[in-house]
Amino acid sequence: MSTVPVIAIDGPSGSGKGTVAARVADQLGFGLLDSGALYRVLGIAAVKNGVDLENHGRLAELAQQLEIEFGKSGPGSVWLDGQDVSLQIRTDTGSELASRVGAIPAAREALHARQQAFRSEPGLVADGRDMGSVIFPDSCLKIFLTASPEERAQRRYKQLIGKGIDAILPALLRDLKERDLRDSQRPISPLKPAEDAVVLDTNDLSIDEVVEQVMDLARARLAG
Ligand code: C5P
Repeated sequence: MSTVPVIAIDGPSGSGKGTVAARVADQLGFGLLDSGALYRVLGIAAVKNGVDLENHGRLAELAQQLEIEFGKSGPGSVWLDGQDVSLQIRTDTGSELASRVGAIPAAREALHARQQAFRSEPGLVADGRDMGSVIFPDSCLKIFLTASPEERAQRRYKQLIGKGIDAILPALLRDLKERDLRDSQRPISPLKPAEDAVVLDTNDLSIDEVVEQVMDLARARLAG
């Protein structure tokens, strides 16, 4: 088993895990795996290549062949087959496709090894739904971030409006609840905290406060 330390940060969409994971990775000088981006890219790639999401065999093949590059045109940027898809994967369609792809066991299986390949010295911060429970069960620290659906929808609303994108709060809340339901009820890797995860409720915490708490826990675990 690898001795490279992994910090797993899981939780539902809008829990802040992406931002927290990026900042913790930065402070520790660790690599970053945004596993949701892989599911998003796979969904977009399936549409681009005319692969039916019901054709699980072809989808798994596609997952193994995808040419994905992270960080090519700045932090958080994602490229697929030589094209910048950073914005496209974050659209509502990208979210919807990712959630559908994520419910397909063959797709999860095909992405399993690809995710583990991100583990390299001096360490990795991995964010997603099943980082602590399935992909890196030997993580030295497992965090599960939560917040109420209303709070998460509100955060997404502010984010979109801040970017000048029109948004309707009740519609965001409805979509988010639908996605939560699908993510938590699927038979494979459902969204739930690993047994040994530290669950942090972020409803009343700022991002800075969450990062601080995670960093305190990380420093203690890495020293031990
Ligand atoms: O984290 P993010 O919102 O980018 O993830 C998009 C979708 O991808 C999630 O709703 C979930 O269905 C799927 N996903 C997953 N397992 C992961 C990461 C994401 O099933 N580890």
